[in-house]
Order: sequence, then structure tokens, then C-alpha cells
Amino acid sequence: MTLTRRRFLQCSLTGAAALGATQLGWASRALADMSRVRAGRRLRILVLGGTAFLGPAIVDNALERGHEVTLFNRGKTNPHLYPDLEKIVGDRTVSHDALKGRKWDVVIDTCGYYPRVVREAAAVLAGNIDQYIFISSISVYADFSRKGLNEESPVGTIEDEATETVTGETYGPLKALCEQAAEQAFPGSTCNIRPGLIVGPRDRSDRFTYWPVRIARGGEVLVPDSPQTVTQIIDVRDLGEFVVRCAERKTCGVYNCTSPAGDLTMGEIFETCRKVSGSNASFVYADGDWLAAQGVQPWSDMPVWIPLEGPDAGQPFTDVSRALAAGLVFRPLSETVRGTLDWWATVPSERKGRPLRAGLTAEREAELLELWRARQG
Ligand SMILES: NC(=O)c1ccc[n+]([C@@H]2O[C@H](COP(=O)([O-])OP(=O)(O)OC[C@H]3O[C@@H](n4cnc5c(N)ncnc54)[C@H](OP(=O)(O)O)[C@@H]3O)[C@@H](O)[C@H]2O)c1
Repeated sequence: MTLTRRRFLQCSLTGAAALGATQLGWASRALADMSRVRAGRRLRILVLGGTAFLGPAIVDNALERGHEVTLFNRGKTNPHLYPDLEKIVGDRTVSHDALKGRKWDVVIDTCGYYPRVVREAAAVLAGNIDQYIFISSISVYADFSRKGLNEESPVGTIEDEATETVTGETYGPLKALCEQAAEQAFPGSTCNIRPGLIVGPRDRSDRFTYWPVRIARGGEVLVPDSPQTVTQIIDVRDLGEFVVRCAERKTCGVYNCTSPAGDLTMGEIFETCRKVSGSNASFVYADGDWLAAQGVQPWSDMPVWIPLEGPDAGQPFTDVSRALAAGLVFRPLSETVRGTLDWWATVPSERKGRPLRAGLTAEREAELLELWRARQG
């Protein structure tokens, strides 16, 4: 017998008595959670989006905490998810009218990319919600070359603020404009969350997944630069939990959300992947300049890697002290790697058969390893 947590929360204690021992253990935990939330307040949460990557992490956490969740999306992405939840169907680039006249405690907007669209959502929801949580991005900042970016650092701008084309250049400034649109509509009641690279189960970009999957395969793995190179990531489930806490505590303001500055190294990621997967991988660190000369791109070909020199050198040192003070907590990296590998095991073989969306193909990696060895003599 399987029960989703959502279904369980609708069960009576009598129903729970019919469950087996394991489920009862889980049942009592869920009941304890539920009463904790009730002692606070059971929130009515509207999620704009909710079904791809970050959305499910937020929804799962909110349901675990006993909240009531409504989803608004087009019904295209993973429509099988959350059969028990209220789903309102609509394309927000066209209209938010389906939300008119409805009341929620908080809206969590995971799929706002254009200020017009956020303004329209806010206009329809005005007077009917107490808080707007907008999922922005660390990409809002204008200059990543220096260390210590914090929430007060200048954000990027674009000439055509009405553009609805997302590119590498427009994405960050548009997110900054979306933040401002939300704050203008709900002054003092808006929470703008700026995540760094989000990683873990359900990630469609493979930007972190490449490493656990590649290292689990074993053998010589080409890796960039040096084990001490610093980076920042956030597990999607930790971010989901933080977002729900922000809703519960009505936390407002702006928050960078990623791992603490200077805390995580590439070497730690690689070693953790090896340990968790139990593979026989060995790591061949190739010099960053040499990789660049071979046309190997940081971040896309060598995921998670940001060179310590250059226009993005400050990015892995983004300050997150404000989010830490507001309750952001992190699971161990080993859990992130394990969660990613467990999820990858469930991915359809058709997707697994195709090259990952980030990282090197096996052929290209082998070619580069050979060139590197020849260079080393
Ligand atoms: N991935 C990262 O590393 C990273 C880093 C920093 C910030 N971020 C931000 O984090 C957020 C994460 O997004 P996610 O994709 O994981 O969120 P998600 O909530 O899991 O998925 C996106 C949702 O938006 C819905 N949607 C898309 N277009 C829509 C439309 N026109 N009208 C109504 N619904 C629509 C999709 O459903 P339908 O397709 O069915 O409509 C889906 O439910 C984004 O805002 C991104 O900019 C991501």
C-alpha cells in the first residue's frame, strides 16, 4: 500500500491504525509535523509553476509541513504530478484571470521571467494575498568579477526593458526588473530569492548531474584546474525548504541563496561523488588555460567550474549571510550526490542514452585526456 503524504494528511487516525509498522512510524512523524504547522498556521499557498525542478521541491516541502497548495500552470510539464492538488490551468504570458477573486496567504512565483508578466500576476492577486515570494537568480548582479557580492550590490540593466526574449544578457536584468515589479506591487511584503546554481533530483540542465553520473562510471575522469578551486551550489530540496520557511515566517526582503562563500571546493565534489557511488574513478586535473586553449568551456563543458580569473571570478564568493540568518540550512553534499544518483536511476533509458546536456561526451573526454597526457610527456 502506498500513500502520498498529502493523502495521509487527509486520513484520520483510525485510517492510520490500519497501516503497517513502517508507515505508522512515518505517520506519527507526519502528524507531529502537522500539529506543529497547525500550532503556527496552515497556509494556503499558490504556486505559479510547480512541476519541473524547484517547483516540486517547494510543493513537496509545503505538503510535508501540512500546508494547502494550489498550482497554476499550463498543464504541460509533468501533468501527472500532484493528482490530489487543486490545479488551475492557464498560460501566464497570456492571462492570470483564472486567479481572479481567489484568496491565498502567499504566492510563490517560480516561473516569472518578464516584468510585464509579474506585474500582471501581482495586479490580479492584489488584495488577495499577504506575501509575494519571487524566485529570482544570482544572475541579477551587474558585475561578477569581484568577490563578496551581496544583496546591496548593483544589479544589471538592459536598454529594452520590455523585451520578452531571454538570453545570457537579458536573463539577469529581466529577473531584477521582475523583483522590482513584485516589490512595487507588494511593498514590504515581497521576498525576492536569488539562488545560485540549483542542483539535485529533477534537474533538467545536467549542470551538476554530469559529475555524479560521470564519476560513477569510473576510470580516469578529466577535471578542471585544481581540487582547491572554490564554487557554490544549492541543493534544490534545501532551497525548497527555505522558500517554505520564508512563507511560514513571512520573511520579506532579498536573499542570496547558495552554499556559503569559500566553503565548497571542486575537489570535495569529485571525492564525494567517488565515495557515494563507490566507483574506481581517478581524477586527472588539467590546467585551466590549457582547457581554454582546447575550447573547453567552464560551466557548460566542465560544469560547476568557474575559473578563478576572469569576468566571473567573484561569483563563487557570493555572500549568503543574510539567508543564513533567516534560516537557510544545508544538507551534507553526500546527500545531494546520493539524491541525484537515485533520481538519475529512475530517468527513462531514452534520456540516459542521449548525451547529457552539460559536460563532455565520453569521446571528447577521451580525446582530451590523450592530448593532456601527451603534453605531460
Ligand atoms: N536552475 C538553476 O540553477 C537556477 C538558478 C537560479 C535561479 N533559477 C530560477 O529558479 C526557477 C526555477 O524554475 P523551475 O523550472 O525549476 O520551476 P518549476 O516551478 O519547477 O517549473 C516551472 C513551472 O512553470 C510552469 N510554466 C512555464 N511557463 C508557464 C506559463 N507561460 N504559464 C504558466 N505556467 C508556466 C511550468 O508548467 P507548464 O509547462 O505546464 O506550464 C512548470 O510548472 C526559475 O525562475 C529560474 O529562473 C534557477
